[in-house]
Amino acid sequence: MNTITIPNLASEQLTKLTEQDFTQFGERVLELIANTHDEKSLSELRALLQGKKSPISALSKQMGSLDADGKKRYGAYLHELRTRIGSAFDEQNDKLAKLALHAKLASEQIDISLPARHITQGGLHPITLTTERMKQFFVQAGFSVATGPEVESDYYNFEALNIPSHHPARAMHDTFYFDAHYLLRTHTSSVQIRTMENSEPPLRIICPGRVYRCDSDQTHSPMFHQMEGLMISKSSSFAELKGVIHEFLNAFFGKELTVRFRPSFFPFTEPSAEVDILSDTGKWLEVLGCGMVHPQVLRNCGIDPEQYTGFAFGLGIERFAMLYYGIDDLRVFFQNDVRFLKQFA
Ligand code: DAH
Repeated sequence: MNTITIPNLASEQLTKLTEQDFTQFGERVLELIANTHDEKSLSELRALLQGKKSPISALSKQMGSLDADGKKRYGAYLHELRTRIGSAFDEQNDKLAKLALHAKLASEQIDISLPARHITQGGLHPITLTTERMKQFFVQAGFSVATGPEVESDYYNFEALNIPSHHPARAMHDTFYFDAHYLLRTHTSSVQIRTMENSEPPLRIICPGRVYRCDSDQTHSPMFHQMEGLMISKSSSFAELKGVIHEFLNAFFGKELTVRFRPSFFPFTEPSAEVDILSDTGKWLEVLGCGMVHPQVLRNCGIDPEQYTGFAFGLGIERFAMLYYGIDDLRVFFQNDVRFLKQFA
């Protein structure tokens, strides 16, 4: 405010001032008011002109010593001056408020012709979708879902499954070891053992989950998913195993498939088989391993093999997802590329 000087009318004696002096003073002040650019400088100016120390207040104090004529005359001049200044302040105040509002609106302008931002909804990962599809079949068939730890002991992952140390089958597993006793489970078969140890047969379980192997290429990932199945009863047979597996494959792929059980070897099943399905192009595609639970495995879990028999199977969930969705590189499941993932939403 110190840059603005107000003509000091009050240094004069009231009676020496002419009507013209009042008019000129008024004009000059109105000019100052009209030149303010914001509400802050306007209110500072208001304090100087309408406050107790303003030139007009100083002049008003001299009124008391005037005679009746003087009071009438100068009272009118002062009144006129106050009124003009008052309405000039009000006008300027309105004008500045409008300008401020326009500036605010202009800065917050919204282009309503822009297309609205799309709200994208997430979807389930294809591995989750595949697992759910598998569960759907088995849960309907009376299986329950079991889980086990991913950090597993050598006993549950190997020993109890009839894979002693130095057994050549261990070499196939490319195990991540923590120490001599603990490892990242290489298959979900370990959950078979934990379940048989903790519950009485008859049993019907599936165990989907993450497994780990030190292996990585187009069809192998160090972490992948398996689903183990186990059924133990007094009458389980290979015929039952074949029936369940064939029904599952038909249900999963949604069509009547040609299925082949090819003799194979797993230390924890006897006899063992690998299962192939015939593709549309006439090629056999291996999809899972299975067999009758080895009597020694039953015994390891306190189940009498003379009374109970059972079958087990294990499959790779990524493999099923790749066949089901027609994906030829397993790595896409773990790259989190939204362009890939979006297709399953
Ligand atoms: N555990 C086997 C693997 O990871 C898969 C498997 C094969 C599981 C046969 C089974 C089975 O239960 O009977 O390669």
